[in-house]
Amino acid sequence: MKLLSIFCVFVGLGAAAPSSQQDKVSYDGYRVYRVTTVNEVAGDVADFQLRMAGLSAIELNHRHISDEETTIDIAIPPGQVDDFDAHPFSATILSEDLGVDIAAEGALGNYQRLNESDQKVPSPSWFDSYHAYEDHVQFWSDLQTSFPDNSELIEAGVSFEGQPIQGIHLWGSGGRDSKPAVFFNGNVHAREWITSMVAEYLIYQIVIGYENDATVQSALDNYDFYVLPVVNPDGFVYTQTTDRLWRKNRQTRDNTTEVGTDINRNWSVGFGGEGSSLDPGSETFSGYQPGDAPETAALMAYALKLADNNGVKLYIDWHSYAQTILLSYGYTCTEFPDNIQDQIRLAAGTAQAIAQSYNTTFVYGPGCLVLYQSSGNGRDFVTDVVDAELGWGIELRDTSYGFMLPANQILPSSVEIWDGMKYLWANM
Ligand SMILES: *[C@@H]1O[C@H](CO)[C@@H](O)[C@H](O)[C@H]1NC(C)=O
Ligand SMILES: *[C@@H]1O[C@H](CO)[C@@H](O)[C@H](O)[C@H]1NC(C)=O
Ligand SMILES: *[C@@H]1O[C@H](CO)[C@@H](O)[C@H](O)[C@H]1NC(C)=O
Ligand SMILES: *[C@@H]1O[C@H](CO)[C@@H](O)[C@H](O)[C@H]1NC(C)=O
Ligand SMILES: [Zn+2]
Repeated sequence: MKLLSIFCVFVGLGAAAPSSQQDKVSYDGYRVYRVTTVNEVAGDVADFQLRMAGLSAIELNHRHISDEETTIDIAIPPGQVDDFDAHPFSATILSEDLGVDIAAEGALGNYQRLNESDQKVPSPSWFDSYHAYEDHVQFWSDLQTSFPDNSELIEAGVSFEGQPIQGIHLWGSGGRDSKPAVFFNGNVHAREWITSMVAEYLIYQIVIGYENDATVQSALDNYDFYVLPVVNPDGFVYTQTTDRLWRKNRQTRDNTTEVGTDINRNWSVGFGGEGSSLDPGSETFSGYQPGDAPETAALMAYALKLADNNGVKLYIDWHSYAQTILLSYGYTCTEFPDNIQDQIRLAAGTAQAIAQSYNTTFVYGPGCLVLYQSSGNGRDFVTDVVDAELGWGIELRDTSYGFMLPANQILPSSVEIWDGMKYLWANM
């Protein structure tokens, strides 16, 4: 898709500078628009590029709606709103003030730890708010402690800044490492906070449901679950301390002041193709070589290790926001895995199960067709190299609040995905 490479031109210009008053980047007064662009019409695209190049616009997301139409969500700083409005784009306002949205997300919640003496799992109030990174780490540890015979803490590797990439491994009656793997990665992209919360909800439900819920029992007896809720700890911490909209890791490189590689463009399958960038300032910077981001290298190695154990049945890379189930491939729009028909059938059932509770619509299909082309992503690698049966990405809620999904939607988002996963695990 032509649009993506064009975005890279201006996305790098957009980073708002931290103000000297405080350490955090302020997005107060940024207005968010959804622009509808006609695809593949060089004139329109060039026009869009030309007009945006003069503004410090921040691209938040874009979605391929149809062959005719792509939408782009873009944040415009307060001083440039009039300039933007002067352009003849078809645009709707998603938010009058991104700073207000960030504030509305609420403060990071207090973590109410388990009471060691009665061996209960952490309080479900965990899912009422977002949390500091160190509380996530404690939560995983506490959850594991409450399920001692069927779980262990795992570490896939170390981030660029030296933080462990941690998570939980859960197993059922067959014992540790006895079944094909279900492998989940959350918070690959730092600002997608809902993804780690949902991943945690899934493991929480498995832990509390294993005793009495037959669906959970058979899922855990059939598969070993390996869940890494925050695979980009450096970026995630940075979104909490400094810049809520940070996406990449925090890797520095020679000969550039730009920081960060897109962990989801640094896998070796399709590396460097369309939908990724060699410009270190781009939000989709792939790195110079596949796996030259330590986080990606760790995940690739971990996935290959799981392949050697008992194979990978299902991989899901959790993202937000688009309400979309992405199947392989992302790097090509014209080739498909051999089992694509089965995958589409499963994705359809999963989407239907997701809609049960709140009527939330998830679309599904090969990523390149239903969202946009993205090269060097995790699901393509896990499909082709790890040989997983299902190498998926899921883009969670929603389609209007975006990355700043209000905390009172953590539970609904989690519940509907739990419905979807129970369907998928029972039918895959
Ligand atoms: C833990 O549970 C025990 C027994 O129910 C209770 O006495 C104690 O106050 C609890 N501690 C906390 C921190 O809630
Ligand atoms: C950085 O620049 C130096 C001097 O031009 C060059 O020798 C080196 O290879 C460059 N490093 C990278 C990673 O491009
Ligand atoms: C991307 O992958 C290449 C090749 O595996 C690796 O050398 C490079 O360090 C990776 N870059 C990042 C940012 O991970
Ligand atoms: C559910 O969503 C569909 C598609 O958005 C809509 O047509 C339908 O009216 C909704 N149903 C209910 C009960 O809200
Ligand atoms: Zn993402």
